[in-house]
Amino acid sequence: MSALKGENTSEPIERAAELLHGARRPFVLTGAGISAESGIGTFRDPEEGLWSQYDPMELAHIDAFERDPGLVTRWYHWRFAKCATAEPNDGHRAIVALADHRPGQTLVTQNVDGLHQRAGSRGVVEIHGSILRWRCTTTGASRPIDRVPFDAFPPRSEAGGLLRPEVVWFGEALPVGAMERVEVALAACDLFLTIGTSAVVYPAAGFLEVARRRGVPSVEVNPEPTPATPTVDVAIAGRCGTVLPELVSRAFG
Ligand code: OAD
Repeated sequence: MSALKGENTSEPIERAAELLHGARRPFVLTGAGISAESGIGTFRDPEEGLWSQYDPMELAHIDAFERDPGLVTRWYHWRFAKCATAEPNDGHRAIVALADHRPGQTLVTQNVDGLHQRAGSRGVVEIHGSILRWRCTTTGASRPIDRVPFDAFPPRSEAGGLLRPEVVWFGEALPVGAMERVEVALAACDLFLTIGTSAVVYPAAGFLEVARRRGVPSVEVNPEPTPATPTVDVAIAGRCGTVLPELVSRAFG
């Protein structure tokens, strides 16, 4: 990742702050980048990204779980431990502050780490589920898991069924209700913010285009260019932990 030294974010932040100030119902889409400064690895960084070290089809696909539930659950439990011990950062907190100023905000995240909620965000739409809850594949019962490692992998529920994280794997549908909430918010939003996501995984990668077709202005926050960068009205080449607090403070300070 580039160091961003000398990057001039001041002018785009000023333009984005004006858009934010004028919006009443911002749609905020976040990805792994917002949790990077909390120490949780992103997926597609060429050197450090999880998918540069592991094959998503061996770990994040429903077929992989069915083939080798021990391997898959061990990996997800390792990730769970990282998420459970990480702390929200200034980027997460800036989104909470934005909601204080603009209660019509909808926050949709692809992240499964629960850091938005721990920062204080309410009503978060977790389109890829949550790694903090695991469910029994036999009974469907879901419950939060604690930080204690499981006794064995694959872990089993009291009912004897395999336990799996409540995350969405490739090959699976999004959680019931999540897409409905997204559609309602996309039809009503008056600003779209795409934050810390590589904007390549659908359906989330298509949300921006839906909003743009309605004439909704858009802002991206990401230190690296993405497929969304040429299409947004304002692209801020910077990190969430620095850019978002400044953006919110300039819009409402
Ligand atoms: P990616 O790893 O694909 O992209 C993370 C993005 O965050 C990249 O564009 C980085 O440039 C950017 N980034 C890194 N540090 C940042 C920072 N401090 N501030 C702002 N941006 C930063 O992650 P996602 O787009 O979230 O799905 O990936 C989408 C989905 O692909 C994930 O939810 C996951 C994965 O496969 C499932 O597991 C179903």
